Amino acid sequence: MKKLTALMLSSAMMLSLAACGGSASTDTASSEAASSEAASSEETATGEAAELTTVNAGKLTMSTNAAFPPYEMTTDSGDFEGIDIDVAAAVAEKLGLELQIDDMDFDAALLAAQNGKSDMVMAGVTVTDERLKVMDFSDTYAEGIQSIIVPEDSDIATVDDLSGKAIGTQRGTTGYIYCTDDFGEDNVIAYDDGLTAVQALNNGQVDAVVIDNAPAKAFAEANPGLKILDTAYAQEDYAIGVAKGNTELLNAINGALEELQQDGTLQAIVDKYITAE
Ligand code: ARG
Repeated sequence: MKKLTALMLSSAMMLSLAACGGSASTDTASSEAASSEAASSEETATGEAAELTTVNAGKLTMSTNAAFPPYEMTTDSGDFEGIDIDVAAAVAEKLGLELQIDDMDFDAALLAAQNGKSDMVMAGVTVTDERLKVMDFSDTYAEGIQSIIVPEDSDIATVDDLSGKAIGTQRGTTGYIYCTDDFGEDNVIAYDDGLTAVQALNNGQVDAVVIDNAPAKAFAEANPGLKILDTAYAQEDYAIGVAKGNTELLNAINGALEELQQDGTLQAIVDKYITAE
């Protein structure tokens, strides 16, 4: 049921995105009008930025869990990189703020934004009905699919085969929530992060790991002997989360996201980290 809701939400949002894109590209008005429109929306974003109140003055503080490639991860030298990091940096720039990244557990990253300890959580966060009760979300900037990773010789081939198996997930994620709903808490183990769950799979402590498709791909590639099932467990939309009622910041973020979508920056960032098959 939850999964269906997520799916419906997903298509509704995609439709509205498509509607946005459609009206812009089928607009027969002169390119002059289009560019002056773009310029004025740019002005709005920067104009608003001057008055934005943030957790740390002059900064856009983002809570995240940088163990989720290719959305957020650390480089060997300890820097942060990934789709969310680059998009957040581009949003911050539009708002005239300096991006500050606070790395923590995923559940803590959600709470930080909810409680106003960070300005926003950006961590491949799925929009769900439950989360919408406690925080506000920006427009969707990416899509995710809950995938199932198993050892190559596993007898698990479908979602239903997970029944009665030991399933590894990351604490606080939709993967954990869906699996406990569908297969019972006793069968689901929550790890600190996706990599730890995958290590448990390698060690035979769990029979499968349920995690978003992009990190699943990264983990499966780095761990020979594991494979991702073709079947999708759930389809989801990723968005930026802010404290409930922080409309000023949310509008500014949405304005920036729209500009970044229209000028192709968003796509360029995704292409940098995800190679099309
Ligand atoms: N999309 C999933 C969720 O929102 C998992 C996100 C985990 N993100 C992370 N950076 N660890 O629950």
